[in-house]
Amino acid sequence: MKIKAIYPGSFDPITNGHIYIAERAAKIFDEVIVSVLINERKNGAFTIEERCEMARKSLSHIKNIKVDSFNGLLIDYVRQKKAGVIIRGLRAMSDFEYEFQMALMNRQLAPEIETFFIVTDPKYSYVSSSSVREIFHFGGTVNGIVPDIVFEKLKERYQN
Ligand code: COA
Repeated sequence: MKIKAIYPGSFDPITNGHIYIAERAAKIFDEVIVSVLINERKNGAFTIEERCEMARKSLSHIKNIKVDSFNGLLIDYVRQKKAGVIIRGLRAMSDFEYEFQMALMNRQLAPEIETFFIVTDPKYSYVSSSSVREIFHFGGTVNGIVPDIVFEKLKERYQN
């Protein structure tokens, strides 16, 4: 039986920390769908199309990964895709409480769906999309934290 997993998030933008999690997930599961949340309550820095495009280009080296977007409840989307697993990355203990609560809530709503946690590489434990955006917003740059395509997009967005 093939197991399909969903790796959901805002990915605004995707970072090397996310890519690390996606690469590891792709070694475990037959198919991984990186799914960008369409959040009507939150204005993102990048549009959903831009986020998907950056994710697609950054993950094109992994054959069993697809990129998609979704809105509404995550578990409805997971069921619609006929996936059995939700992937989440853990960077630090501070992520744990939020992730634990979300996993339990999703289990309550959909007991057949499993949440699978993958621990980040320590070198990305401090990385977040908002900190990356802020650095570029204030004229800084960072190497090795985002893929080249994202680096260029951030420079274009904030520094031109
Ligand atoms: N490497 C780098 N950064 C990481 C990371 C990693 N491995 N894992 C998480 N992050 C960062 C993200 O960059 C983001 O940073 P930011 O807040 O500074 O922008 C932050 O951690 C949040 O991560 P993200 O994975 O985008 O989570 P989220 O909280 O925005 O979204 C969903 C989580 C999409 C799974 C959740 O909101 C959801 O399921 N929504 C749908 C509605 C629903 O079903 N709700 C009920 C849930 S119980």
